[in-house]
Amino acid sequence: MQNKSLVSISDLSKEEILEILASSADFERNPNRKTFEGKVIATLFFEPSTRTRLSFETAVLRLGGSVIGFSDAATSSSVKGETLNDTIRMVACYADAIVMRHNIEGAAQLAAEISPVPIVNAGDGSNQHPSQTLLDLYSIFKTQGHLENLNICLVGDLKYGRTVHSLVMAMAHFNPTFKFIAPKEMSLPEEYKIFCKKNKIQFSESNIFNNNFNDADILYMTRVQRERFSNLDEYERVKDLYILENKMLLSSKSNLRILHPLPRVNEISPDVDSNPKAYYFQQAQNGLYVRQAILTKVLS
Ligand code: CP
Repeated sequence: MQNKSLVSISDLSKEEILEILASSADFERNPNRKTFEGKVIATLFFEPSTRTRLSFETAVLRLGGSVIGFSDAATSSSVKGETLNDTIRMVACYADAIVMRHNIEGAAQLAAEISPVPIVNAGDGSNQHPSQTLLDLYSIFKTQGHLENLNICLVGDLKYGRTVHSLVMAMAHFNPTFKFIAPKEMSLPEEYKIFCKKNKIQFSESNIFNNNFNDADILYMTRVQRERFSNLDEYERVKDLYILENKMLLSSKSNLRILHPLPRVNEISPDVDSNPKAYYFQQAQNGLYVRQAILTKVLS
């Protein structure tokens, strides 16, 4: 990790990832402890969030710590023109660690370079979302019993989906086979395909969804990220191309689990929710334990 900050999933070695997953299991068994008494964690959310902010804040509260921060940048002095640099310098005077979500790619890296206290990247533009990836790995481990040699099918907005980018990088430690399903306009950026080739990860690409995930162990659905499109006509054209319905799961493997970082819009029909293969709400709950483990590690 960079000076105890977690900016990118690539900051963590395989051993550190496995250590965080083991610690997460420990927190799941007992999430209420008082190890953060006297500690203050700042949550700075320059972009909207439900799960990430509330699970980080719950993680702190269940550990006996306190939370300061904002959930809407419009209530911070950034609207008066304060730079991110100055905001981080100020908040670091008040808090022991800073959890930050920002719309600009690289904002978390900048914050980590200037902050005297650890920074945890809670999502920077379409770049990285490492705490989501750790909870995705924890969810994959819990549902499959291991992380090695899995067939993982990623569907939807692979261009702007930062959770996809972080997951592809993290799974490199575990010899996955990826299938990337997206229309051309939302296909995985070239840099991640180069990463796969360099790391000898097998992958295929397709724009066909129906009957194209029957060999998958994990089906990772994603939302089309409206907020990242400069051309909303393009968003309208692609937003409902892939919708998972319950009847499409009939030929899927018995161990298949459906993950989604959430929020969903239309890409998973509500009739899937009661299928035992749907795991996205438990996945979000896992986020609490994983974020307790992350904060404990950065403050250790
Ligand atoms: N998965 C995720 O980042 O959700 P939120 O945007 O609600 O935090």
